Amino acid sequence: MLPGDGIGPEVTQAGVSILKECGSAFGCTFEVVEALVGGAAIDAGKAPLPKDTLDACRRADAVLLGAVGGPKWEAAPVGHRPETGLLALRKDLELYVNIRPVKLREPLRQVSPLRPERLGKLDLEIVRELAGGMYFSARGAEGAGPQERAWDTESYSAWEVERIARFAFARAEARSKKLTSVDKANVLTSSMLWRRTVVAMAAAHPAVRLEHMYVDNAAMQLVLNPAQFDVLLTSNMFGDILSDAAAALAGSIGLIPSASYGESAPLFEPIHGSAPQLAGKDVANPVGTILSVTMMLRDAFGLAEAADWVEGSLDRVFAAGYCTPDLAQPGSRALGTRAFTEALLKEMRLARALVK
Ligand code: NAD
Ligand code: IPM
Ligand code: MN
Repeated sequence: MLPGDGIGPEVTQAGVSILKECGSAFGCTFEVVEALVGGAAIDAGKAPLPKDTLDACRRADAVLLGAVGGPKWEAAPVGHRPETGLLALRKDLELYVNIRPVKLREPLRQVSPLRPERLGKLDLEIVRELAGGMYFSARGAEGAGPQERAWDTESYSAWEVERIARFAFARAEARSKKLTSVDKANVLTSSMLWRRTVVAMAAAHPAVRLEHMYVDNAAMQLVLNPAQFDVLLTSNMFGDILSDAAAALAGSIGLIPSASYGESAPLFEPIHGSAPQLAGKDVANPVGTILSVTMMLRDAFGLAEAADWVEGSLDRVFAAGYCTPDLAQPGSRALGTRAFTEALLKEMRLARALVK
């Protein structure tokens, strides 16, 4: 468990309490090891991703991360910033798949900024490439004054596109069989390779209805008619941007979890950041982290039943009108991070007592 910065420690604390409840209910013990990452590691005199943290992640069956970053470290150069720690973790664990499911929790339909009839059935998955592209390609800076120049390079190899596309095709096959590949192939050569590579793979996946969409249009379509989407496949950069936009449709970025897969232990983290303005106030929405824990229960530990138990209880807590401040509407009962998590734990215990 890597709590990180800002609201990270608050939301991971909530997540781990749900995980432990699942452990005691399902007769298993989770051994939780805490380690430093991001600004917390920098403040302890270490690198943004200390070696012992990386080693601990390599030994783990799963990693749960809160968030990193904040104004305190903003002036630091690239390479010495908290965010570098997260990027290094993803890269060193070769986590090239990042799934960001954006699903409406039905009791929150009125909270969405889209009118209910516009929103339709919001249940999509963004498959974001996580170990390549602009985040990890050549960058530099030179000169000074008006001549100062800085650059980052969007660059993908065919094999990098293939491995993430393979995952997205399989994901689409397991869902509604519709796959939208998002690129900017009308302008960018890297996107032209992306599209050609994805097109070449389509023949091997005849059941999947593949479509292509330019990223500017995809941003608009997400807001206009999100129900048209099932699985979206896209690059690291575009996936980062589109997932925040899609998250808002569900009611708050604080609700959305993610899972990252690759060559070693999977990583689970909410998609939001460290929300420095909310830190220490017990107001952060812990649901993105709690749902990251349910992804972990399903995918890393084979405990789908426990995950269903958490999610069913969560929907009943929302249906009863409880929520966190970011979701508050007239008539709802906003609770702090800890009280909301307690309400969820209480509902979980109640549901289990009724079943027994
Ligand atoms: P942010 O996601 O932290 O916040 C964006 C907005 O969403 C803010 O209004 C915030 O209050 C709100 N928000 C975010 N999470 C919330 C939650 N759980 N509950 C309620 N409201 C929530 O993004 P930002 O403000 O652009 O970035 C802040 C810092 O976080 C930066 O240092 C950035 O680099 C870092 N960051 C880290 C991650 C990560 O660790 N995965 C992701 C994004 C941003
Ligand atoms: C995210 C974040 C990270 C990203 C940053 C903090 C490196 O925005 O996980 O969405 O851009 O991937
Ligand atoms: Mn982001």
